[in-house]
Amino acid sequence: MNGNLGEPLTEWGCEHLIERILIPADVLQRRIAELGEQISRDYAGKDLLLVCVLKGGVMFLTDLMRHIHVPHEIDFMAITSYGAGVRQSTGIVRILMDLQTNIEGRHVLIVEDIVDSGRTLDHILRLLWTRNPATLRVCALLDKKGRREIYVPLDYVGFEIPNVFVFGYGLDLDEKFRNLPFVAVLGAEAFPNLQASSPIIVGRRKSEAVE
Ligand code: IMP
Ligand code: MG
Repeated sequence: MNGNLGEPLTEWGCEHLIERILIPADVLQRRIAELGEQISRDYAGKDLLLVCVLKGGVMFLTDLMRHIHVPHEIDFMAITSYGAGVRQSTGIVRILMDLQTNIEGRHVLIVEDIVDSGRTLDHILRLLWTRNPATLRVCALLDKKGRREIYVPLDYVGFEIPNVFVFGYGLDLDEKFRNLPFVAVLGAEAFPNLQASSPIIVGRRKSEAVE
């Protein structure tokens, strides 16, 4: 079993945590290239600003922007959702680091790793709309559609995924393994008492969890 770049999983130090590879590295990269081309067409001649939500969106942003062939800027915001301490966000979101850019009149595209309940993204969208961007759209790599509790408009989606807890490619397991070039499903055997996407997931028992 490998992540399609040839490295055995043992070399990533997480073989025992993985049930299966959900999205191999080459499949991820092909889809990200397609998204980049689509975004390049849609934003031709526009003043584009990519807003990356830290930390999970970082891998996706840096790969995606290599395929966006229109001049653009990037900026970052860091948020934390709290109250749950857990995998299920409450939608109560606190800004840890705000944008440096004034987005008024700009064409803003939010780059997110994963949309689950939709609460975090809903909060970010509401906040950014108050700053009067010309347009505000969302590009999410992963869409856990079956878990949505609140409608959020997703303009670009990499992959729809089932209701399983995933990590790798920016997404963390207790802050680790964001470096994996593939998206993996957390093994139920490794944590028999934990359901995927249950309110209590390994290492996420603190009252605040950085996205
Ligand atoms: P939402 O507010 O429920 O949509 O939660 C979105 C955030 O929860 C994402 O930005 C991730 O940080 C986190 N998240 C949701 N599902 C997963 C997962 O399967 N693995 C890792 N993080 C996840
Ligand atoms: Mg996120």
